[in-house]
Amino acid sequence: MTATQWTADTLLTRYDEVRSHTERLAAPLSPEDQTVQSMPDVSPTKWHRAHVTWFFETFVLAENEAGFAPYQDQYWFLFNSYYEAVGPRYNRAERGVISRPGAHDVGVYRGNVDDRMRELVSSLDQGTVDKLAGTIELGFHHEQQHQELLLMDIKHVLSLNPLRPTYAGAPAATTTPDPLGWVDVEGGLVEIGHRDAGFSFDNELPLHQVWLEPFRLADRLVTNGEWLDFMADGGYQRPELWLSDGWAQVKAHEWRAPFYWTQVDGVWFEHTLHGTFPVDLGLPVSHVSHYEADAYATWAGKRLPTEAEWEHAVRSQGDDDATANLADTETWHPRAAGASTGRLRQVHGDCWEWTSSAYLPYPGFHPAAGAIGEYNGKFMSGQMVLRGGCALTPPGHARASYRNFFPPGARWALSGLRLADGGVRA
Ligand SMILES: [Fe+2]
Repeated sequence: MTATQWTADTLLTRYDEVRSHTERLAAPLSPEDQTVQSMPDVSPTKWHRAHVTWFFETFVLAENEAGFAPYQDQYWFLFNSYYEAVGPRYNRAERGVISRPGAHDVGVYRGNVDDRMRELVSSLDQGTVDKLAGTIELGFHHEQQHQELLLMDIKHVLSLNPLRPTYAGAPAATTTPDPLGWVDVEGGLVEIGHRDAGFSFDNELPLHQVWLEPFRLADRLVTNGEWLDFMADGGYQRPELWLSDGWAQVKAHEWRAPFYWTQVDGVWFEHTLHGTFPVDLGLPVSHVSHYEADAYATWAGKRLPTEAEWEHAVRSQGDDDATANLADTETWHPRAAGASTGRLRQVHGDCWEWTSSAYLPYPGFHPAAGAIGEYNGKFMSGQMVLRGGCALTPPGHARASYRNFFPPGARWALSGLRLADGGVRA
């Protein structure tokens, strides 16, 4: 979904930027690092590298390259993620047992598809560029989604290693919690959804109207220090704070702290991509599930925002967050909110923010025809929407209308929360 005027040259320039960024992210990782699948939700790094390549081969080359033949027949089976219309695929939960192709061979596969993409695109006339640009641009944004997942996934892989290996970077200086403020937002009949000339996924459309009562949003994310108060007040022991399904998970998995926290001699430590350190009170709490976020909001006497409230509030203040802590800052971790500005802080970047909204189609939503229609629409069941972006999100991949989604029990994604209040008819 784009109105961008692409030419063959600009498509190829962007193609090279996106593709090379994936390889830069994988560069600190050994072939062994790149092979591990630490749990079913996590994919090996080399699988991400191959799958995003498969996407271009399947959705661009297969339909447009003269005399097309797959690089390897088996790769179509191995690196198809979930596209039923493309054919059978390998079991997602067993990606970690695929030792071959190895990380090097995946690099050769990437190089082959890159050469063929360059040859194809550079030969296109402008009319054909206009026809194919939407799918190629979708491939860019798809690869950016996997760049973020690659980092979330390797974080989990490395967290299980008792040697405490790091991915990259160094921790920021320890922070102290700064005061929480509130931003009042006028309600009314508002427009929700993607509306400008840039790219969007199909799930951000159509633009539609929603009625909102006046509400207010916290001006920053909930911090680790505040989360420790929740824990100290029995947050993980009080069923009255929890949704029923959430309480079942607390008991089944013995949740007693955020996903990457461990307690040693009475001190809570947090695993990060740059090492394991005592929990920093001023940083946003991260790697909590929707259930935990909801329980915290209940404990605090507040609630989570709806996705429409979040989007409208961000647009109301101007969707311009030049200081966002996205992946280009290479902090690889949320950072403190900093001094109050009277505006919403930490909007794009730091942590994806759980909302109270189920991931559902907007009124009038229609997925695209063909296999590409499986991209988003078929997941609109049993998942909750997150908004914003996180410290692992590539720049250019965060916007007010972006709808991320995960099951409510997911904790390995870089997710946090912002409180909401009001929104009740006076
Ligand atoms: Fe994918």
